[in-house]
Amino acid sequence: MECIEVEGGASLRGTVQLSGSKNASLPMLCAALLAQGDHVFRSVPRLRDIASTLKLLRHLGCRSEVVQSTQSDVINLSVGDVLGAEAPYELVCEMRASVLVLGPLLARLGRAKVSLPGGCAIGTRPIDQHLKGLEALGARVQLHHGYVDCEAPGGRLRGGDVCFDMVTVTGTENLLAAATLAEGRTRLLNAAREPEVVALATMLKAMGARISGEGTSEIVIEGVEALQAASYEVPPDRIEAGTYMVAAALTGGDLTLEDAPLAQLEALTSALRKAGAAVEALGPSRCRVTRSGPLRPVSLTTAPYPEFATDMQAQWMVLMTQARGESTISERIFENRFMHVPELGRLGAQLSVDGDTATVTGPTPLEGAVVTATDLRASACLVLAGLVAHGVTRIRRVYHLDRGYDDLVGKLNGVGARLRRVRE
Ligand code: EPU
Repeated sequence: MECIEVEGGASLRGTVQLSGSKNASLPMLCAALLAQGDHVFRSVPRLRDIASTLKLLRHLGCRSEVVQSTQSDVINLSVGDVLGAEAPYELVCEMRASVLVLGPLLARLGRAKVSLPGGCAIGTRPIDQHLKGLEALGARVQLHHGYVDCEAPGGRLRGGDVCFDMVTVTGTENLLAAATLAEGRTRLLNAAREPEVVALATMLKAMGARISGEGTSEIVIEGVEALQAASYEVPPDRIEAGTYMVAAALTGGDLTLEDAPLAQLEALTSALRKAGAAVEALGPSRCRVTRSGPLRPVSLTTAPYPEFATDMQAQWMVLMTQARGESTISERIFENRFMHVPELGRLGAQLSVDGDTATVTGPTPLEGAVVTATDLRASACLVLAGLVAHGVTRIRRVYHLDRGYDDLVGKLNGVGARLRRVRE
């Protein structure tokens, strides 16, 4: 098994080129199923989750070609007129986001059978809202033998009102994609406002879909008869950007980030400034993060966009271990997203958890140790902790990192960190 060793103590300085967004690419690739033809995706990040998605799309009958360029990949995806309608357990269990083929398949073929994704390290993560929404568009939904089997009577979904009980990102994306080919008008109420939903809507519009209101909590879709393949640009990854911003503040460094979507990072930027870091916009997609003074404690609560992202919670916790005083972090999106707390404790952090709130007392000098990553963002948090820990931190199960961070080791080493991959 591969692990990453981090030798702590370096302050990060230099420029990091950020990659395309994982959580935008995944729904975009799946939405290509909606239209026959040759789709082109640019600025696709090099990630295991992308490889898993392409594997699933090939299983469904698509052909894919990955063209490597210096910074990112171009993916040519050919979607035929005949598609498979079934996403099997072996492929879905590799990646929960596989459920994003459900809406596009059902809309295009009039039926879809997708394995239930099951729970994961950060919570139970049901898909009841996706199914309730598809039912509101007329689908007959049955669950048996671990699969969700959906059928659109007469072969076509029909528009309707979908009101989500909670904000769900992939739920909104599944319904948005499904509604593009439904007959008539669909309204998605209490829709997710995340930039990744907007990226999907932009792609669907390039394919000929009629959508308005993306980026607000009410999205309106006027269904069309058919969509066409087109070319798309994957937007930059706001969570990757945020992770490097925290790394700069944590190590008392000076990082310039290229292609950082600063406008999507207001909650993080404001928290970083309160904590004592300087965040400077150098243009619409470039920023510089520095810190010279001491870190101050800042308490926060995760919530749907535009509030503080749950995907930045673990990284923020590391930063707070180095701030003078007590801070709290409340996790309101997932019920079990504090798996990194005991691992940080092994490095010497002073943390306690009560329900959905963690309390961090700092500053505590961290000491390198062997730690185990439990999910993607927890892995990133442990790498960050390793950057400021004395000695060497060995992080096990780093395949989680490869799911969602494009060349994290190379990018961090490029700005002065000391990381290496080793085999255990
Ligand atoms: N939920 C339900 N029923 C549903 C759908 C969601 O109860 O049908 C609950 C979830 O269990 C959770 C909350 O609603 O408690 C929000 O979940 P959401 O559906 O928004 O999460 P997701 O769409 O499965 C995406 C990202 C996650 C990110 C969350 C929240 C992708 C592929 N994944 O997940 O990203 O944390 O939104 O912003 O877009 C990551 O990148 O590390 C990651 C986990």
